[in-house]
Amino acid sequence: MPHPPLADHLLYEPHPDSALLDSWLINTNSLTCSILKKMRPGDESVAIDVILNPPYWEFGHLTWFHEFWVHRVGQTSSPSLLSDADDLFNSSVIAHRDRWAITTPPLDVLLEYNARVMQKTHELLAKSIDAEQAYFIQLAIFHQDMHNEAFAYMWQTLGYPAPFEPFSQAKLATNQASSYIHFPETNVMIGSERKSGFIFDNEKWSHSITLAAFNISEQAVSNSDYLEFIESPTNQADLNPVTSPIYWKKERGVWYQRYFNEWLDFSEFEPVRHISYSDAKRYCDWRQLRLPNEYELSLLMSQKQNDWQPSHLWEWTSSPFAPFPGFSSDPYADYSQPWFDGNYQVLKGWGMYTPERLRRSTFRNFYAPHRKDHFCGFRTCLL
Ligand SMILES: [Fe+2]
Repeated sequence: MPHPPLADHLLYEPHPDSALLDSWLINTNSLTCSILKKMRPGDESVAIDVILNPPYWEFGHLTWFHEFWVHRVGQTSSPSLLSDADDLFNSSVIAHRDRWAITTPPLDVLLEYNARVMQKTHELLAKSIDAEQAYFIQLAIFHQDMHNEAFAYMWQTLGYPAPFEPFSQAKLATNQASSYIHFPETNVMIGSERKSGFIFDNEKWSHSITLAAFNISEQAVSNSDYLEFIESPTNQADLNPVTSPIYWKKERGVWYQRYFNEWLDFSEFEPVRHISYSDAKRYCDWRQLRLPNEYELSLLMSQKQNDWQPSHLWEWTSSPFAPFPGFSSDPYADYSQPWFDGNYQVLKGWGMYTPERLRRSTFRNFYAPHRKDHFCGFRTCLL
């Protein structure tokens, strides 16, 4: 009798060796613990807001997620090291608003739970692990990396001191006039190849598309480009003008931008950040330009390798987040599937708080178009 086909997630090889996984785990978890330990008294109380999470809840949740997938095979019937863990920290069943109503265990209990779960994984990695364990350990590490990044933009929203050093910094544009790179009509491969290592389900599967010729800017839109738009007579005369970006202020004719808890001078050549998709589109309309789609940005990324993105900001695309042909959910089904409703836009690249191991040209990030709290920017294409 033929064997049934293996689930996709068992085929995301090759996997890094156990020593590398162990070092990634130590790296991401020590970063999380240092963020939590550096919090000042009172920082844990955060007002209810759709773009925030109670920080201790978020910490409990990421430990719970790790334990659930790595040690409990994704089954609530398998016991947790923390009593009531599923009722407290399962983000798939706890409505966002309800996270504020939960009585989260105190930080020392959460730290102890975290230490015990991580110790179990270190013990697992000291033995030989199979493809499924390697998959779930990576899922848990990358999920934690994403939450560390979320702590960074939550801290920026709240005006707290920087929680950790960025992994990279934006390079300033060398000249003010943006130049455009021409791509002739071409067939491109979009999505992830089989056997290309760990991927997320929304990258399935690699497929060829024909991309019409386009011209894409070499650099992201800068502060001065954006300021010109904000102050333009057309925008000022609009009944609903685009306002200056959040975290900007003007004092005695000088602009400043807030970076965590500090007001800094801003450079006009710096890529503009914290712009919503909706405002980025209005900028493009005013300049008679357009946003790139995700295929165009993917092609640019694949051609320019590490050099493609001096902005070190997530860059908005005009592509709604949608499944590729051949999509099917992986075990953590809520990663992509619930968000394919047309209400989210794809962002490509990475931000300065995204660790190196998550920086892949096939990675697809997605946010609602009004969001601007994360470290995002954009570039343009000629019409
Ligand atoms: Fe999560």
